[in-house]
Amino acid sequence: MITAVVGLQFGDEGKGKVVDFLSGFHGIVVKYNGGRNAGHTVVTDAGTFKFHLIPSGSLRAREIVLANGMTIDPFYLVEEIRNARAANPDIKVLVSRMAHVVTELHMYLDTREEEARGALKIGTTAMGIGPAYEDKYGRTGIRMGDLASPEVLKAKLSLMTRMKASLLKGSKYEKPEELDRIVAELAGAGREISGYMCDTEVYLDGCHGRKADILFEGSHGTLLDVDFGMYPYVTSSNTLAGAVSVGSGFSFRRVHNVIGVVKTYMSRVGEGPFPTEISGNEADRLREMGHEYGTTTGRPRRVGWLDLQLLKYSIMINDVDSLALTSLDTLGKMSEVRVGTGYRKDGKEITGIIRSMKELEGLEVQYRSFQPWGELSDGQVEDMMRRGKEAMPDSLKEFITFVEDSTGKPAEFISLGKKREMTLVSGVFAGRVK
Ligand code: IMP
Repeated sequence: MITAVVGLQFGDEGKGKVVDFLSGFHGIVVKYNGGRNAGHTVVTDAGTFKFHLIPSGSLRAREIVLANGMTIDPFYLVEEIRNARAANPDIKVLVSRMAHVVTELHMYLDTREEEARGALKIGTTAMGIGPAYEDKYGRTGIRMGDLASPEVLKAKLSLMTRMKASLLKGSKYEKPEELDRIVAELAGAGREISGYMCDTEVYLDGCHGRKADILFEGSHGTLLDVDFGMYPYVTSSNTLAGAVSVGSGFSFRRVHNVIGVVKTYMSRVGEGPFPTEISGNEADRLREMGHEYGTTTGRPRRVGWLDLQLLKYSIMINDVDSLALTSLDTLGKMSEVRVGTGYRKDGKEITGIIRSMKELEGLEVQYRSFQPWGELSDGQVEDMMRRGKEAMPDSLKEFITFVEDSTGKPAEFISLGKKREMTLVSGVFAGRVK
């Protein structure tokens, strides 16, 4: 089985839990976009694990692959592999020689670029991801394979400082000895990682030939896609299921199953349009109950109601087969549960996706309200795991059926709590639960 998991909103949909769960029966988990800006949390009996660079499936998978579409901070990679090994000692790690390297220079530039943007700032995670992808597409980037050659590193870093001279003015990066230090440190990290590096696209092709089960873990969310998201309030990579091909060299024609992860309310960090955003006490309550603080930056997340219009767009653009609905336990504790069903402006229906702050101005969102299902006790959740939807409170069932009917997609994963086992699974993966 070849499966792709993608977030259908602004990231932080709960992909970590879904991927951790699926990695129990996909031996190989591949990341194909993004870098340290991503953040996924997995809760198991052994504790809470936060992942950024390496896949959330790293606790259970036999092999993890960091493919060419990623931007990798090599020092952070060394640290995350060490942490993953503590929980999963036999895990095999493969890193593409073609993935791009994020250096401290890129992180510095990320902050300087945000300052330069002023009112047009994006609210990035400041992890250097944008500048690293700029270098990739500007054809000045450092690839993981370059870590083996201090001469190449030095030449590329010098070029970068010349091209970005205005942003680096007055910083320590104008000093040649600083570049020498970075070269030496990167080369050191490169030596530690060299054993993991290979042509991951060739390796994955071999895995496919052996009929291995492979899981592609998308980072971020569809609405942060650099092409189809709410540009410019997006990340710098393609976040769609379609990016599996260019981000890993594995043909899209081989993917059997695309699972779209949907948080049943929404959150966003950084700037940009958010039509169903809420504020005040109601937002504070949702943020606190859902622990909605960035996994990467700790920033409080903006929160709001599920937006069906955006969700339908994300389902279309990813050609999603089934949905994974998350955070229903948190949503049910609100005093009112709402879902945005459509938009109107000046009395007229607005179809499609809202992409700019201008389009957001004067927009009215239509809502449907649901009776909250309240706090779910452990006993109730256990009963649902045994008897399925039948054991759900009526209002919860009604909510799920409404989302399924409105999108035309089955909710084959229903997450009712943070722990692994609190997930109701139907469809192709039912009965494969480990
Ligand atoms: P960057 O990816 O750091 O350049 O940030 C660009 C935008 O994407 C900012 O609004 C970030 O907050 C957002 N972003 C990037 N990665 C994630 C993620 O994994 N979850 C949520 N938001 C993200």
